[in-house]
Amino acid sequence: MADDLVGLPPTEVFHTQSNREPIVNISGNISMTAHYTAQAWVCQGLPWARHFDTAQGRFYRRLLAPVWALGRRMGHTTPQEFLVQRHCIMDALLRRISPIQVVELAAGLSPRCLAFAQEDGILRCIDADLPEMVATKRSLLPARLPPGYRQAALDLLGRDDYVAQLDRVYLRDAPAVVLTEGILTYFSPEQVAQVLARVAGLLRACGGGTYLTELHHGDQVDAMLLGRAFRFCLHRLTGVPLRPLVRNRVQAESMFRQAGFDEVKVHHPRDWAAELALPIQPIDSGLRVYEAIMAPRGRHGSSRRR
Ligand SMILES: C[S@@+](CC[C@H](N)C(=O)[O-])C[C@H]1O[C@@H](n2cnc3c(N)ncnc32)[C@H](O)[C@@H]1O
Repeated sequence: MADDLVGLPPTEVFHTQSNREPIVNISGNISMTAHYTAQAWVCQGLPWARHFDTAQGRFYRRLLAPVWALGRRMGHTTPQEFLVQRHCIMDALLRRISPIQVVELAAGLSPRCLAFAQEDGILRCIDADLPEMVATKRSLLPARLPPGYRQAALDLLGRDDYVAQLDRVYLRDAPAVVLTEGILTYFSPEQVAQVLARVAGLLRACGGGTYLTELHHGDQVDAMLLGRAFRFCLHRLTGVPLRPLVRNRVQAESMFRQAGFDEVKVHHPRDWAAELALPIQPIDSGLRVYEAIMAPRGRHGSSRRR
């Protein structure tokens, strides 16, 4: 897929208004990890990823590489590998679902919306993050971008719900896929409940659709030396104490259903390894990709799905 476009006008950044909560101070540190994650996509050669090959990201990748090399020799999946796994599985699901619009929240330096904005049938791809990250991403991109691509600055934890304000950007009654990748783990269960409730609200406003995200099952992560080492490194880098949000699939399903989703599907990287040529190691990293489905609602809020 070509990632240089000529002759298209630059898109505008849409800013929501929200009173900031103190959590945003933490988010500043979380933003650093977006540079590290982008390195996995750069190395994988994903479309548009080369724009996000930052010096900060390279520094973290080189710093941590020896630790992960050791873990790999012991049969563990390295973070670089599971970052590729989750991203590629979500992309494959996105292609399979084939929505009219895509909204990636806390997108960081993800190249996904830029790439999918060039796919047939997808009319709108919205890349959303905190204003500072949106500005950073913008500064790394060329002036001319795909016509369906939009950027929005919003705070997932802001006191004011961003959903109503975003209605100038998303398409009404156009089935959507909303994604978050690599963010829920930094939030408390209460904050995650708020994030999910707003995602559910956004999907309802779009006339139904699917939420894609990843979760690391605590039962596997806690039993794994490399899992605990990775959590320790992230804690040191971000200052946020990290704990797996759910222990297993049962807890995850119940969390999505409580947020109002109608159906929940779970994907194990092993099941996608052959199709996507994913790196797979013998020890289960606990990574699972979740597909939480919101059926189209009738006028009075009842599900139209049978
Ligand atoms: C760990 S990165 C994940 C980025 C990307 N999805 C990935 O997989 O690399 C976290 C991203 O979440 C953003 N973020 C943190 N707190 C946020 C908040 N309250 N609202 C919106 N975005 C937030 C950060 O700016 C950062 O870009």
